[in-house]
Amino acid sequence: MDSILVRGGQRLNGRIAISGAKNACLALMPAALLSDEPLTLTNAPRLSDIRTMTALLESLGCEVAALQQGRVLVVGTEAIRDHTADYEIVRRMRASILVLGPMLARDGQAVVSLPGGCAIGARPVDLHLAGLEALGAKLDLRDGYVHATAPRRLRGATFAFPTVSVGATENLLMAASLAKGTTVLKNAAREPEIVDLAQCLRRMGAQIEGDGTETIVIDGVERLRGATHPVVTDRIELGTYMLAPAITGGEVELIGGRRDLVAAFADRLEAAGVEISETAEGLKVSRQNGRIRAVDVVTAPFPGFPTDLQAQMMALLTLADGVSHLEERIFENRFMHAPELSRMGAKIEVHGGGATVTGVERLKGAPVMATDLRASVSLILAGLAAEGETRVARVYHLDRGYERVEEKLSACGASIERIHERAA
Ligand code: UD1
Repeated sequence: MDSILVRGGQRLNGRIAISGAKNACLALMPAALLSDEPLTLTNAPRLSDIRTMTALLESLGCEVAALQQGRVLVVGTEAIRDHTADYEIVRRMRASILVLGPMLARDGQAVVSLPGGCAIGARPVDLHLAGLEALGAKLDLRDGYVHATAPRRLRGATFAFPTVSVGATENLLMAASLAKGTTVLKNAAREPEIVDLAQCLRRMGAQIEGDGTETIVIDGVERLRGATHPVVTDRIELGTYMLAPAITGGEVELIGGRRDLVAAFADRLEAAGVEISETAEGLKVSRQNGRIRAVDVVTAPFPGFPTDLQAQMMALLTLADGVSHLEERIFENRFMHAPELSRMGAKIEVHGGGATVTGVERLKGAPVMATDLRASVSLILAGLAAEGETRVARVYHLDRGYERVEEKLSACGASIERIHERAA
């Protein structure tokens, strides 16, 4: 199994190109199931989660061509040949549930295994199911699978989400696009990935209004066509690399970065004493001298502070002057990085849904273990600032969501390398 070795203490200076968003791409690819014409996605990230979605779509009968080293994906679905999303693929990635709505909308049938994914809490799919039931789907849960049917097409309806869910909003957006009549989604997620999916669906001929707000109105159409769509910038990758010069000192330009994608996060970063400016090509982040200031963070659905940047922000705050409080409001059990950061000398107390971080003057390199996708990159950030060597094991989590992390950081002067190890 690979690990990443970081030798800390280098200031970072340079440029990092931000990739297309993993989470947007994972919702855009299943949208191809809605049409018998191909969907072309440009600016796709090259990640293992994307390969998992490719394998899932291929198992359903899609033809997926990865062009330009995987930067461009062409997904064709002349017909869905198999309507079962198998446990063996779904368990590897929770976003697999996103094939449910499109298959049901196009062919009136779908069988999807209940998902696995990151170990960050219970993460049920009840909202996806309740929403599809509101559109007239008949659901039967047996043997770990959802068996869904809608023999006479899904029907538009009003559905209010009891809690905001990105994935459930995406599933319903796709399903409602081919439903008969009008669907109104209330308390919908407002994430940029939702807007990106809605834009792509509009290019395919869907009638959608209100994406990016709490209420989305979808007028179902009879059929959707093929389209070409560029995947939006990855705001989580952007935020992660904004933290790199913040934690080490230095100045890095994030090419393709947009402040509106990370506004709440950027505000917190500035409050901590980091400078952010907009450039012609993206965002520039710099920290010259002096310690980071302690700040409080509460995660919330967009436009709030993203849960997917909480672990990385915690890495920064371990070195702050003062005490910071982080509150996790989206997922329970999302502080698994805390004990690992503590192994590097951080002072963190986790209590229920919150963590108190008492800043220390320095971290010390240590062998640590990645527990999930965002936790693993928080350990790399900490390692960049720590004295000595940090070895992050189990980096397969990292490869799910960060493209060439060691190349992007070493181009800015970080001492970081991947160690390939043969399985014992
Ligand atoms: C997506 C992102 C993930 C991010 C999360 C929150 C993808 C592939 N993943 O995950 O990186 O951390 O948004 O921004 O886009 N919930 C239910 N029932 C459901 C669905 C969700 O109770 O049916 C709960 C979840 O347990 C969680 C909250 O709702 O507490 C939000 O989850 P949701 O927005 O659905 O996250 P994902 O779409 O799975």
